[in-house]
Amino acid sequence: MNLRLQVNGKRLLKRLDDFAAIGATPAGGVDRQALSLEDRTARALLADLATQRGFSVFQDAMANLFIRRDGNAPDRPPFLIGSHLDSQPTGGRYDGALGTLAAFEVLETLEDAAIDTEAPIELVAWTNEEGSRFAPGTMGSMAFSVGHIPEDWQATRGTDGVPLRNALAATLEALPSAERKALGFPILGYLELHIEQGPSLEKENIPIGIVTGIQGTRWFEVTVTGQAAHAGTTQLGFRRDPMVAVTSALHALYNGIMPADEAARLTVGRIAAQPGSINAIPGSVTLTIDLRHPLLERLIAIEAQVLAAFQTACAAQGCSVDLRKTFDMSPALFSKTVVEGLEQAARHLGLPVKHMVSGAFHDAFYVAKVAPAAMIFVPCREGLSHNEAEYVEPEHSIAGAQMLLQSTLDVLAM
Ligand code: GLV
Ligand code: MN
Ligand code: MN
Ligand code: MN
Repeated sequence: MNLRLQVNGKRLLKRLDDFAAIGATPAGGVDRQALSLEDRTARALLADLATQRGFSVFQDAMANLFIRRDGNAPDRPPFLIGSHLDSQPTGGRYDGALGTLAAFEVLETLEDAAIDTEAPIELVAWTNEEGSRFAPGTMGSMAFSVGHIPEDWQATRGTDGVPLRNALAATLEALPSAERKALGFPILGYLELHIEQGPSLEKENIPIGIVTGIQGTRWFEVTVTGQAAHAGTTQLGFRRDPMVAVTSALHALYNGIMPADEAARLTVGRIAAQPGSINAIPGSVTLTIDLRHPLLERLIAIEAQVLAAFQTACAAQGCSVDLRKTFDMSPALFSKTVVEGLEQAARHLGLPVKHMVSGAFHDAFYVAKVAPAAMIFVPCREGLSHNEAEYVEPEHSIAGAQMLLQSTLDVLAM
């Protein structure tokens, strides 16, 4: 159906440039962290573009932003397409923005060609996918999937100390003309276009990834407590140094987990010593751990390995450890039907595809709990992402948007 309908590639590339200017960093990336002024500016620009095209703009209580192109059957639940507009602190121009702006391009292409759909199609820009300012990630889609904001987020603060509830209120107020929608309204399905954020599509020279599932992620905040003491006077035998415990636990984990299991991922992205004085043994060391694995049983086993490594290292140093899980996303498979829709769309477009499991987590994980969902990947240069140098070839961005358009129509027709 509608085989000759083409997205406007030039318009999409211009929009990518325009949004990359919001929160642009000197090194060519973006800093547009969730619910920041820059995030609000990007949302306002998208809402503005939507209004100019006659689309309706909505927000829910989590500030998830929806842009609706009506269908002929206005009472049918909408089909959602989208991604996120927030970025890492030193993020790239495409992570999230590509999927969001390609979704807008789909709406505009349908509008330009006056193509009617039965169901409304709605772009969604999920709030706080990244989780780097407010943990955890995928907050917007998680709240959407349960239909309420979890009670324990009331106390959540950003890395800058700003309470989540204040940042949410300011973001909602910044778009006063957007209508309110219930959190977790019914939807027909969901498709998300995203950059792969890994090297395999580029390496194999395949333009489209059909994402069949997402590997599991667990996040931890670890505090190792010892005793602060004088750096010059405290002999080895009197030290209870949490830095020694942490470095020895990490040494064991870095050597024990990833070399032994190719599919495992262990990352410490944030670490700090308190009080943080050059000439004091720290009283405590805090760090984050990001664990990933496609198999739930391995994720569980590696979590146990992490805890054991810290307990052993702490026992040797007279320290104690507190390991708090802040995010738990189990490995998940996407809808077979939507994956079939993607395969059909790729055949229609004559695009080679590779089936793959996502190494990154995405909002599609939570949306898939309430409706059939799947994802499309496009290659990015050297697989680099969460890095200001992130780059996507223009033809890959355009092919991704074309694939999003075709698969939206094909899935709706199924
Ligand atoms: C999402 O940004 C992730 O870390 O996978
Ligand atoms: Mn992303
Ligand atoms: Mn990201
Ligand atoms: Mn992500």
